[in-house]
Amino acid sequence: MTQDEMKKAVGQAAVDMIRSRLEKDMIIGVGTGSTANCFIDALASCRDLFAGAVASSEATAERLRQVGIEVFDLNSAGSLAFYIDGADEFDGALNLIKGGGAALTREKIVAAASKEFICIVDQSKRVDVLGRFPLPIEVIPMARSYVARQLAALDGQPVYREGCITDNGNIILDVHHLEILDPKAFERFINNIVGVVTNGLFANRPADVVLMSTPAGVEEIR
Ligand code: 5RP
Repeated sequence: MTQDEMKKAVGQAAVDMIRSRLEKDMIIGVGTGSTANCFIDALASCRDLFAGAVASSEATAERLRQVGIEVFDLNSAGSLAFYIDGADEFDGALNLIKGGGAALTREKIVAAASKEFICIVDQSKRVDVLGRFPLPIEVIPMARSYVARQLAALDGQPVYREGCITDNGNIILDVHHLEILDPKAFERFINNIVGVVTNGLFANRPADVVLMSTPAGVEEIR
């Protein structure tokens, strides 16, 4: 089974998990990335069962519209029943690293506004300790050098993501060579650096369930 086939399988598994719980007036949150795109494609078959979705990026909003799903502004949507999104890494406590697609800030907002976060991944995303995947940090452009110096002092190696401007008009620093032993504390610590908009650790609001695709099928991890 290829990685693309595993992504399709887990996108379908997420739809199977929520289909019977969808309601006509319900708005759900939808994430960003290739696995989230597989979910959107599978979700199209149930578009008449719910009202629509809040998107975590402009790219996701466009893809949702393309398959006929109405896109709502979070400010008018209220609390969301589900948030379905991929991740770059997850650990045994369902803490995540996200932001490989530079959508981390909106992803974190939509996750925070959702009652249940269903994370969809293939088995390559599982780690014992977060940090093998470089931690994305969204930064106000004028603070780039200052924030990079603060991160270097933590023994991380921040690398400016060339040519990447987020949907919010900011830049991304990817911090390499981290071993994140206390994800909750590290998430809070980085968010306290002036100039940081948010970081890609989802530990204070982790996933509620991870659906992990393997060649043998999709495992549900709680
Ligand atoms: C985007 C994300 C994605 O969820 C993450 O990068 C995983 O993407 P993919 O499903 O393409 O592997 O956080 O900002």
